[in-house]
Amino acid sequence: MPAITAVAPGKVILFGEHAVVYGRPAIAVPVSQVRARAVVTAEPRRPSGALRIQAPDVDLDATLDDLPSDQPLASTVRGVLAALGITRPPACTLRITSTIPVASGLGSGAAVTIALMRALAAFLGQPLPDERISDLAYEVEKLYHGMPSGIDNTVITYAVPVFFIRGQPIQRLRVGAPFTLVIGDTGVSSPTALAVSEVRSQWQANPSAYESLFDAMGSIARSARQAIETGQPQSLGPWMDENHDLLRQLGVSSPELDRLVEAARAASALGAKLSGGGRGGNMIALVEPLAAQAVAAALLSHGAARAIITTVKESGN
Ligand code: MEV
Repeated sequence: MPAITAVAPGKVILFGEHAVVYGRPAIAVPVSQVRARAVVTAEPRRPSGALRIQAPDVDLDATLDDLPSDQPLASTVRGVLAALGITRPPACTLRITSTIPVASGLGSGAAVTIALMRALAAFLGQPLPDERISDLAYEVEKLYHGMPSGIDNTVITYAVPVFFIRGQPIQRLRVGAPFTLVIGDTGVSSPTALAVSEVRSQWQANPSAYESLFDAMGSIARSARQAIETGQPQSLGPWMDENHDLLRQLGVSSPELDRLVEAARAASALGAKLSGGGRGGNMIALVEPLAAQAVAAALLSHGAARAIITTVKESGN
């Protein structure tokens, strides 16, 4: 039996992170320059049921039976087997690698889960439709990430730009004219679950102030949707700046993020903001295509661990 491979892209949130957890809309796009990859290989010489998981990025090489139930990859595998009604899988090795930096707001956790689920289900002869993959990945997200909105599993499963409202079916975003982003990584790892739970505590302490911030972010996401769909991406810049300011007020920016956002603006970006959970991780800048290299260079010279240039278009980038 040939090896089965599945990949899943990273993602960035353009508008509405955190507010999306509280029911406001958000916009996210896939980032195909980074990706998770899962390869399943049959091991006919090993006894059936022997499923080995290798994840060299996290130094993991173990059989499923030896892993605790709360180990993320093991619980993802068990979730797929249960969903497919399989109690004893054929002997195989599942190898997972990823170029998406972890805890950086680029959707590494969801991408690993989705690549793994797709590869394993296909290997078992029961490929799962996108809707099922997204739902299963959401269940895994819930285990490790407190209160996920569901935006990460949605944009990564479908690998297209989305306008997302928690609990509602996916809304694909039409992209009237492509536009260019530079993504800058602070290199500071920051688990999303932590940022989300800290925002929750602040919201509980001061609900009306936080609800107003979420409302403002939601209305920016709505205006941005219209600009993207009608092919006027240049008007997104000021909204990105405003959204970053609101995220600072929410308390999820950091000196490193602010420094990169400022550096991008000074290097001619049309707008810039942090992206994802914040406190570290990545920021994004909207740029004219010809300015992309200069903005990326400015980010690197202001301490970015890396910079990615990506073009947002209708079919995913
Ligand atoms: C994470 O990519 C975005 C957050 O809004 C959390 C979530 O929506 O689950 C911070």
